[in-house]
Amino acid sequence: MILILGRSGQVARRLIEAYGDQAVAWGRQQLDLAACTQDELRAKVAGLASSQKLRLIINAAAYTAVDRAETEVEASRRLNTVIPGWVGEVARDLSVPVIHYSTDYVYSGEGVEAQSEASPLRPAGVYAMTKLDGERALLESGARALILRVAWVYDAEGANFMRTMLRLGRDRTELRVVSDQIGAPTAARRIAEWTARVAPWWMRENHASLILNMAPQGFVSWHGFAEQIFAVAKEMNQPLKVERVEPIATSEYPTPAKRPLNSRLDCRLADRLVGEMLGERPHWSVDLKREMGLLRWESLG
Ligand SMILES: NC(=O)c1ccc[n+]([C@@H]2O[C@H](COP(=O)([O-])OP(=O)(O)OC[C@H]3O[C@@H](n4cnc5c(N)ncnc54)[C@H](OP(=O)(O)O)[C@@H]3O)[C@@H](O)[C@H]2O)c1
Repeated sequence: MILILGRSGQVARRLIEAYGDQAVAWGRQQLDLAACTQDELRAKVAGLASSQKLRLIINAAAYTAVDRAETEVEASRRLNTVIPGWVGEVARDLSVPVIHYSTDYVYSGEGVEAQSEASPLRPAGVYAMTKLDGERALLESGARALILRVAWVYDAEGANFMRTMLRLGRDRTELRVVSDQIGAPTAARRIAEWTARVAPWWMRENHASLILNMAPQGFVSWHGFAEQIFAVAKEMNQPLKVERVEPIATSEYPTPAKRPLNSRLDCRLADRLVGEMLGERPHWSVDLKREMGLLRWESLG
C-alpha cells in the first residue's frame, strides 16, 4: 500500500488517479496536519502499516498560498517544514521510503540560466523559506527521501493560472500579464505520472536520499503561457472576449510575496538518473493541450 498525504490538491488528486486501489489518500478530513500531534500522525501511519504492507509515503500536502503565507507564517511553517520532518521520522522508524515535493522558489531565481540542484539556494518569502526548511527537516530525519522540485503547477481542476486566465479571458477584452518571470508550466497529471514511474525504482533500490528538479521541456513567461492558453481555447472554438494580453513587468504587479524572475529548472540530473523511467520529457505546450482537452469548461464557474 502507498500512503498519499493530501487528497483534493492538484498533485494529490492525480496521484490518486494514477495509483487507484494501490494507494490510500488522507486529506484534512482523515488527518488534519495543521492540528495533529506527531504522536497522532505516528499512530495513524503505524495503524495503516500494521494492517497492510506500507511500501511508500508520498507527501503531496503543503501550504501553497504563497502570498497569504507572508502573514500566516505559522500555518506555512507547520505544513511545509514541521510536517515533512515528522513524516520523515515516522517513515524512518517504519523503514518506509518517502517521496516529497518542493519548489523552484528555493533557488535564488537570479540570472537567466536554468538552475540545477547545485545552484545557490536563496528563498525569498515565507512560503519559499518554509519549503526549503521542510526539505532539510525531511533529509535530517534520516528517512530515505526523494524530493522532487517542481514549478508552476496547474491542472484541469482546482485553483490555478490556466483556469484563472480562461475565466478572465471569457469575461474581459484586455488583460495584463507578467512577462518577465520565466519558467515551465507543469501539469499536475504529469508530475503524478513521473512520480508513479520513479516510485518502483525508489521503493526497490536502497539509494541515498536525493533531490531532483522535474519540469517539462521549454520555457515561457506567464504572458506567453496566457497567450498559448487563449490560442488553444480558440482552436477548441471556446467563446472568449479577450482581444489583447498586455505584457507587464513584475514591478507593475506587486504581490505580498516576492516571486523569482528565473524559474527555469535544469533537469539534466533527472534525465541522467531516471530518464529511462520518465521517457522523453514533453514540451510544456503538449501538456497544456492535453489538460485543456480534459477541462470541464462549465466548471470554470
Ligand atoms: N502549485 C504550484 O504552483 C507549486 C509549485 C511548485 C511546487 N509545488 C509543490 O507541489 C506540491 C503539491 O502542490 P499542489 O499544487 O498540489 O498543492 P494544493 O493543490 O494546494 O494542495 C495542497 C494539499 O495539501 C493538503 N493540505 C493542506 N493543508 C492541510 C492540512 N491542514 N491537513 C491535511 N492536508 C492539508 C490539501 O489537503 P485537502 O486535500 O484536504 O485539501 C491538499 O491536498 C506541494 O509540495 C507544493 O509546495 C506547487
